[in-house]
Amino acid sequence: MSLISSPQRSAPCPGSPPLISIVSWSQLLACEVLLPGDLAVDLTAGKGRDTCRLARAIGPAGQVVAFDLQASALEQAAALLRNHGLVVNCWPGDRALPKQSGVFLVQACHSTIGKVLQHPAKAIMANLGYLPGGDPALITRPDSTLAALQQSLHLLAPRGRLVVTVYPGHPGGAEEGAAVNAFFCHLTRDHWHVLSLRVVNYSDAPYLLVAERIV
Ligand SMILES: C[S@@+](CC[C@H](N)C(=O)[O-])C[C@H]1O[C@@H](n2cnc3c(N)ncnc32)[C@H](O)[C@@H]1O
Repeated sequence: MSLISSPQRSAPCPGSPPLISIVSWSQLLACEVLLPGDLAVDLTAGKGRDTCRLARAIGPAGQVVAFDLQASALEQAAALLRNHGLVVNCWPGDRALPKQSGVFLVQACHSTIGKVLQHPAKAIMANLGYLPGGDPALITRPDSTLAALQQSLHLLAPRGRLVVTVYPGHPGGAEEGAAVNAFFCHLTRDHWHVLSLRVVNYSDAPYLLVAERIV
């Protein structure tokens, strides 16, 4: 996971991430549909880097909702967000969240997204796998990932994007990847534009799947 996933790797030009930084592409493809004031979701907050990118893209009038099962991940995410001057709120995974500006961290499985979110989102991201530097046994799993992705489809606004980074290299990652691939491949052409972005000369590299709601 570490070789290709970090947008902080040395870059060919100062300030630009390497071409094969899949996480950078995922942030770019999620953030390019966001406007100030939009609602965005991070299904796997982890250390908060994606959450922070989403929050910066939607500005102070927007709302970001970020899920993670691990308290330690959310503590790291909260610290990063506060370092960027953002106000962090905590929200339970079993209550509907009103549309309200700010960043909301939810310590719950992302499959509770349908209970928490009541309003259409413009971007929903998931960076699967395990927390870098954390317990590699605490991974995202096909059942809850697919439940979260399925609900996300119904929560996306028109032209909204579902952006998923898959890590096939760790134990369980290939199985989850196969399930997520099938999910994206079965989205109907009439309603979804679906894109896959892969590093083709590196086996087990992370890859990206993106679905954009057409109507
Ligand atoms: C690769 S990390 C996410 C990285 C993060 N997006 C970032 O920018 O730092 C994956 C995260 O998914 C979380 N996770 C695993 N299963 C989950 C679930 N069912 N619901 C929500 N989060 C989950 C893990 O705790 C871990 O922090």
